[in-house]
Amino acid sequence: MKFLSLTAFAVLVLGCSTPKQTVSGTPDPTTGNAKPIPGKIKDNFDKEGHRGCRGLMPENTIPAMLKALELGVTTLEMDVSFTRDMKAILSHEPFFNHEITTKPDGSFVTEAEERNLNIYRMDYAEVLKYDIGMKPHPRFPRQQKMPAVKPLLADVIDSAEAYASEHHLAKPHYNIETKSEAFTDNVYHPGPEVFVDAMMAVILSRKISDRVIIQSFDVRTLQYMHQKFPGVKTALLIEDFDKKAIELQLQILGFTPTIYSPDYKLVNQELVEKCHAKNMLLVPYTVNDVKKINELKAMGVDGIITDYPDLFEKPVKVKIQNSK
Ligand code: G3P
Ligand code: CA
Repeated sequence: MKFLSLTAFAVLVLGCSTPKQTVSGTPDPTTGNAKPIPGKIKDNFDKEGHRGCRGLMPENTIPAMLKALELGVTTLEMDVSFTRDMKAILSHEPFFNHEITTKPDGSFVTEAEERNLNIYRMDYAEVLKYDIGMKPHPRFPRQQKMPAVKPLLADVIDSAEAYASEHHLAKPHYNIETKSEAFTDNVYHPGPEVFVDAMMAVILSRKISDRVIIQSFDVRTLQYMHQKFPGVKTALLIEDFDKKAIELQLQILGFTPTIYSPDYKLVNQELVEKCHAKNMLLVPYTVNDVKKINELKAMGVDGIITDYPDLFEKPVKVKIQNSK
């Protein structure tokens, strides 16, 4: 961006209270949803709470989502997995992660046993016997401890919508990740088409699809989304070790998603400008440092995904270095 060609001091104020406006446009005939307008970048910065607010509350739980809303996020980021009885629930892994899980007998899940606690092989009634809020988190010491279970996606949406209404907040947006990989199809989760159809059934039943982004590292689920639900926004997730050119990544995907969402360590000025030139928003993950948030914002990213949405509330002065 032009102002970065000079060394300058900038005062960056985050946490503005203006409700986010995502890209919008005319209704799509298939879904009735708003399609992105080519060339239009959304008006306001998108403050996204990662797994709700993992730094502050147990991840991917209803309390984490409500706390994130209280802190002023515009979008709730979350991960979807499936149970054997095909309930869409929030879970980053399709099994009970040893870092966060207490078993029904009160002991902690060990790393050796976690992958055998396969959620896709359990009915939801069984899943509810495991606690994911009480074990102290080794990497998030500020996380509040409380009894918590893996919630139904439907209940998360209902709770967030009710909270927003009760507190006179703007309706939240939902950045929902399909947690699937080709080599674990039908072992840890359904195949991409069944996965997406079952997840979208919940989203459509709640009539929030115009406020939903479906994100994934698994291009198969995005490709199916694009084909079956073309009016719903999509985000391509990029791992930090993925060194392919953006053009190749998009060629593999086969279409231009609404959002390009890389690990924040991959973001530089050139990437921001490339995304915007391709009519994509750029929303990096997972940024937990206020100085880095402000640097990325100065580069022109369209949003930030963080475990600590309370960081958005802290306006600070940062020195913008000349990157050229
Ligand atoms: O939103 C992107 C981010 O959530 C992807 O990383 O592993 O935390 O799901 P992960
Ligand atoms: Ca995620």
